[in-house]
Amino acid sequence: MTDLASLNSHALSAIDAAATLDALEAVRIDLLGKQGSISALLKTLGQMSPEERQTTGAAINSLREAVTAAMGTKKAALETAALDARLATERLDMSLPAPEIATGSVHPVAQVMDELAEIFADMGFAVAEGPEIEDDWHNFTALNIPETHPARAMHDTFYFQQSSPIGGGGPAKLVEGQDAQSPLHHPADGPPPRTGEVLRMLLRTHTSPVQIRTMLQQKPPIRIIAPGRVYRSDSDATHTPMFHQIEGLVIDKGIHLGHLKWTLETFLKAFFERDDVVLRMRPSYFPFTEPSAEVDVGYTLVNGKRVIGGSEGWMEVLGSGMVHPRVIEACGLDPNEYQGFAFGTGVDRLAMLKYGMDDLRAFFDGDLRWLKHYGFAALDVPTLSGGVGA
Ligand code: PHE
Repeated sequence: MTDLASLNSHALSAIDAAATLDALEAVRIDLLGKQGSISALLKTLGQMSPEERQTTGAAINSLREAVTAAMGTKKAALETAALDARLATERLDMSLPAPEIATGSVHPVAQVMDELAEIFADMGFAVAEGPEIEDDWHNFTALNIPETHPARAMHDTFYFQQSSPIGGGGPAKLVEGQDAQSPLHHPADGPPPRTGEVLRMLLRTHTSPVQIRTMLQQKPPIRIIAPGRVYRSDSDATHTPMFHQIEGLVIDKGIHLGHLKWTLETFLKAFFERDDVVLRMRPSYFPFTEPSAEVDVGYTLVNGKRVIGGSEGWMEVLGSGMVHPRVIEACGLDPNEYQGFAFGTGVDRLAMLKYGMDDLRAFFDGDLRWLKHYGFAALDVPTLSGGVGA
C-alpha cells in the first residue's frame, strides 16, 4: 500500500514537472507504456486472489485513473501554453493602416492603343506587329523610298553602325543621321539578304514597315492595324525621339478611296465619341501611297479651347492614301489584281487631342503626379458598348 502511495506521489510530481509535451510523453511511457511501472502493477492483477483483487486491485486501478486524469489535465495545459507561445510570435498588428487600394494606373498611350484596338476589331481588323530594330529595306526601300530619296533625310533616322555581317560580330552601335559606314545593300528591288551580306539596320521611323512584313506573310484579303513605338532624332514640346504610331492596312480586290474615307470617318467618330466629327482630306505626298491624303479633323472653339467637332478650324491627325502599286509589287502581289489603302497616325497626338495634355515630353517623364492625373483605372477596359472614352 505504501508502495502504491509513493508511486502515486512520484507519478504526480513527475507529471507536474514535465515542462513540454515531449517531456510529458516520456513520463507517460515511463508509467503507462508497455514496460511502464503502473502497467507492471496491472499485470500482477491476474495472479491475485479474489479478495486481494478487491482491495489492492481497486487501489491499483484508482492509481491508474488518477495518473491518467492528471496526465490529461497537464497535456491540455501544455497545449494551451504552446498555442499561446505561437500566437505571440505570429501576431498581426491590427492597428497598422490598411494599404491604399488601386495605386497603379494605365498610361494614356496604353489606354488609347486599347481604344484603337477595340474600335478596329469591331471593323474586322487584326493587330499586327513588327520589330523596332528594322532594316533599311523594310523601313524605306520596299516602301518606294529608294536610297537617294529626300524622304530618307526627312525622317531623321537613328542608324546602327554595322561593323560585321548579320548574325555575327559584336553589338551594333547607334549613330545619328545618314553617315552609317557599312556597305549598303542594293536589293535590286528584291527582298533583303538574310545572311552573309551586311544590311543596314536602324530604329524604325514609322510603323509602315509592318505593311511590308504583313503583305509578305499573309495572303489578301488583309485588314490589320499595327500599333507600336517609332523613333526619330527630334525633340521639343510636340516631338520626342521615341513616340507611338498606329498603322492601318487593307489589301483586297476592288478597294478604292471611298473605303478609306468611310473607315477613317467611322474610326474618328468612334474614337472622339461624337457624331459631328468632320473630316477634311487634303492632297499630300507619301512615297508609298498614290494618291496620298492628309486628314484633318474639324474643331470648334469653346471658351477659347479647341473641342473636336464642327469645322471652325482644322487639326491634322493622320496620313493616308491608296497603297502604291510599286509597294504591292515589292511584296510579290499583282497590283492589277490587288489594291488597298493605308494610314498612319500618332497615338500620343491622338491622346493629347482627346484628353487635353499639351506637352508630349511629360508622357515619358514617369512623373507620378502626371500619371495620377492623366492615368486610367486598370479595370476600366475600353469597350464599344461601355464607351471607349473611359
Ligand atoms: N508613315 C507615315 C508617317 O510616318 C504615315 C502614313 C502611313 C502615311 C500610311 C500614309 C500611309 O508619316
